[in-house]
Amino acid sequence: MKSKNLVQELNTKLSGLTPEDVLKYFLIEYKGKIALSSSLGAEDQVLTHMICDIDKNTKIFTLDTGRMFPETYKLIEKTNTRYKIKINIFFPDYKQVEEMVNEKGINLFYESVENRKMCCHIRKIEPLKRAFKDLDVWICGLRKDQSITRISNQLIEWDEQNGLIKINPLIDWSEQQVWDYIRKNNIPYNDLHDKGFPSIGCQPCTRAILPGEDVRAGRWWWEQPDKKECGLHNRGE
Ligand code: ADX
Ligand code: SF4
Repeated sequence: MKSKNLVQELNTKLSGLTPEDVLKYFLIEYKGKIALSSSLGAEDQVLTHMICDIDKNTKIFTLDTGRMFPETYKLIEKTNTRYKIKINIFFPDYKQVEEMVNEKGINLFYESVENRKMCCHIRKIEPLKRAFKDLDVWICGLRKDQSITRISNQLIEWDEQNGLIKINPLIDWSEQQVWDYIRKNNIPYNDLHDKGFPSIGCQPCTRAILPGEDVRAGRWWWEQPDKKECGLHNRGE
């Protein structure tokens, strides 16, 4: 069952549980109707590890925008080998990409927020809609302390754009907790994290951060902090 009204009830029932217990609840209740969307970032690697411990047959997918870092492709392979899984890959529609880059330029995103959002829409949002076919629950790696745009995110949310339940099992974890868990469990992680990239997206839109900068400061660094969401995590407001 998926419904908007259920969300508040589930938040009350499950808040305070460990991420593993939240995942166990959803992976049992929504078996076959639930998936993790992984960017191959640190949080998603933690979730992949937890999910594989509970049910290796759970769908895990990534949106390959065509502009990802080589380190990210390497990690897809490494993760598949380590957990004996196959991360599903979703590509953007080639006609839309061709039309966009031929009309606006290969690196259109630097020109305006509008162009950047168009690129994110074609390369991420449209493929995400296809990835959601037949799903009731979407597992994500959002954490409140990643950004000012994420402070009000909840453990369990209703995703109005896509009409499904979205869960953020690591919502209250700190960056330190993520890394302690990765080290304790020897989880494979993106080589870019050791090169100053706490948050990893597409290659042209992500840079390393400086000491003291916000963890998402390297994402779309030329834009204002309150604009820095690609549309995957809009909450309809
Ligand atoms: S983003 O919206 O700015 O790109 P971020 O990199 O912080 O998001 O990741 C937050 C969550 O969005 C991840 O934990 C993951 O669930 C999802 N996500 C982000 N990028 C991708 C991607 N390329 N493929 C699949 N899921 C993604
Ligand atoms: Fe395009 Fe940059 Fe968005 Fe990737 S992050 S989809 S390259 S605008």
